[in-house]
Formats: sequence, structure tokens, C-alpha cells
Amino acid sequence: MNIRTLVPCAFVAFCACSHAPVMQSSSVAGVSQSDFGKTADGNSVELYTLTNAQGLKASILTYGALVTKLEVPDRNGKLGDIVLGFDNLEGYLAGHPYFGATIGRVANRIAKGKFTLDGKTYSLAINNGPNHLHGGLAGFDKRVWKAEPIASSEGPAVKFSYRSPDGEEGYPGNLDVSVVYTLTAQNELKIQYAATTDQATPVNLTNHSYFNLAGGGDILGHDLTIHARRFTPVDETLIPTGKLQSVKNSPMDFTKPHQIGERIAQLKGNPEKGNPGGYDHNYVLNSGTGELAPAVRVREPNSGRVMEIFTTEPGVQFYSGNFLDGTLKGKGGVVYQKHAGFCLETDHFPDSVNQPKFPSIILRPGKTYTQTTIHKFSVE
Ligand code: BGC
Repeated sequence: MNIRTLVPCAFVAFCACSHAPVMQSSSVAGVSQSDFGKTADGNSVELYTLTNAQGLKASILTYGALVTKLEVPDRNGKLGDIVLGFDNLEGYLAGHPYFGATIGRVANRIAKGKFTLDGKTYSLAINNGPNHLHGGLAGFDKRVWKAEPIASSEGPAVKFSYRSPDGEEGYPGNLDVSVVYTLTAQNELKIQYAATTDQATPVNLTNHSYFNLAGGGDILGHDLTIHARRFTPVDETLIPTGKLQSVKNSPMDFTKPHQIGERIAQLKGNPEKGNPGGYDHNYVLNSGTGELAPAVRVREPNSGRVMEIFTTEPGVQFYSGNFLDGTLKGKGGVVYQKHAGFCLETDHFPDSVNQPKFPSIILRPGKTYTQTTIHKFSVE
């Protein structure tokens, strides 16, 4: 991390030993900013930190518009960081499984990276076995976004913007995307996405934070409720078969709270085909109206932390960190083992472009794509 040159020398001498980033408060209350280094091609990356009146903190990078830190209190009021990530930019640049990142242009998989739109077939970058995953080789998670603190009556907020050019990763049309992160006075991290295009194109944005409400260890003891009676079963390359299947009488059923680890061993996957098993499924949310509605509740019994998720989206991909394998060293030198974190990616269903019965993800010129997801934190 670079210390800003305008910092007085005496202060630099005082803090040099800690290598702490020098935070600069912006003109917007509760928003501060610091340098976070440069990408290989010399683009400066900045870190924005939002702090609300109760002291919750969310730190977001212009690289990938990604959440690096989310500090929320436990039942004793002690703040803890509940997302996986790295201490410095090098960690993010070295490659990682989308920690905290904004995912686009299309989240999750597109079978064989192909789709047909208005009679024309498009071929996308292939980056996951035979398929296209999370926007391709260099999706939105690997782009440097513009950031602008914004004055919002709800709490400190930063807007990230990015223009995805026509043809990027094989997608048609110039797409102008924005993501606004707000830390509200009600202890919510609110994420609002918007996009417009100059040609018809698929769009499906989400956030890929890996949560661990205990702040460490594995996530198998978290109690999870998902407001979904159905899910979309997948083939061995994790592409939906097109069916909507009931969760009833199966380890997929989280309509009532269950520990994540309780039945996870029953989901064996297909290790020979590279699927290590565990949860990696899209749930069909009961609401499905496009209005903001409750999707998920997670509770970690030891810390007492609770996270509720509300979304406008029809689905949520529940991924139990199955591919984490102890090869990545994250914040504070902690090694991320299997199930060190879980993702709850609110979005449209995987491979929607090739599934006529799934809700459409096609955005046309003149229309605006929007999605809102709220993560609300409390204790019990
Ligand atoms: C997918 C997983 C994938 C992970 C990337 C999740 O959204 O569902 O299959 O491995 O992202 O690390």
C-alpha cells in the first residue's frame, strides 16, 4: 500500500512501522479513501471505507468494485471482519475465487460459452471446464472501476461505475454499469446495481462475498434459512438441467433453519469431474416478484451474529466454499481451508440465456437493468 505523498513527514515517520494505509476522509461524512497500490498496467487502485453511526465498517476497492472487509459487531458489541479477502492488492491480483467481487456481465455459468440472441450466435470466453463462468477470463471482478462518494440520506455511500465495451469477453454492446454501496443507519449493507446498453445483451450482476459470521474457522455450524421451495438441479458441469425441483425431503431443504454442515456430506458431487460436492446450487426464491423480499437468514450461534438478505432477484446461488482447498493465504496470514466461507449470490438463474423457461436476463437499448440486495446485520 502506498502512503500518500501529501501526508506530513512527521506523521509518515510515526506510522511507517505499521504500514497502515493513510485514510483520507472525503467530502461525504462517513466515507474515507486510501491508496491501495497499482495494477500491472499501472492503474491506481483505491480503497473506500464506509462507517455508519453504530461503527459498522465496509471497505470496497475500485479493483473489481469488491468488498475487502465488512466489520460488524457480535453479541458483546465486539467488531469482527466477516468476509474473506486479502490485506493487499497483490493478493487480489495473484488470482482468487472472486472474493467479495462484483460479478458481470453475467454471473454464474453459460453452457459452452454460447448463446443466440435475435438470431445471432455469440461465443464467449471459456474459463471453467467447457463453460463460461462469472463474466469470463477478465470479468467485472478484474476491472478498475471509477468511484464517487455520494451524499445519501440513508448513510455513507460510494458509487462505482464501469463501461464494459462492445465485444468484451464476447458480449455484444457497450454496457454502462454502476454499483452503489450504502451502509445504512439500520446496519444494512445495501447494494444497488444499474446498467444500460446500446445493443441487446445479457446482464446478470451479483456480489460474490464469502461470509463467515464467526470471523474464522469453518462455516459448517452456521444456521441457514433460504426462502425457497425449489432449486435448479445441475448436470456434472454445474449447468442447470432446466427443471425446477422441490427441496422437500432432501438436504437441499433450508425452508426451516438447518446447520450448513448437517447434511452437506450427502451432496457428493462428482470429484472425478472436478465437482468436490457440497452446496453449489441456485435456489428459486419464493417471492420472484421483482420487489425487494426476504431471501435468506443466517445465524452464527457462538458470536450471535445474524445476517438477513433481501433482494429483488428471483434466485440465490448458495455456494459453501467447496473449492477452497488451503492453497490461499488471506487476511492476517489465515489459510482458507474448504468451507472457510460461504457465498449467497442473489441474481437470475445460471445459464438463463439458454433456458427459455427461466426469467430473461436480456437488456435492450432504452431500458435500465436494476437489482437491489440488502444485507442486514443484527445479533441474538
Ligand atoms: C459458483 C461456483 C464457483 C465459485 C467460484 C460460485 O458462484 O457457483 O461453482 O466455483 O463461484 O469460486
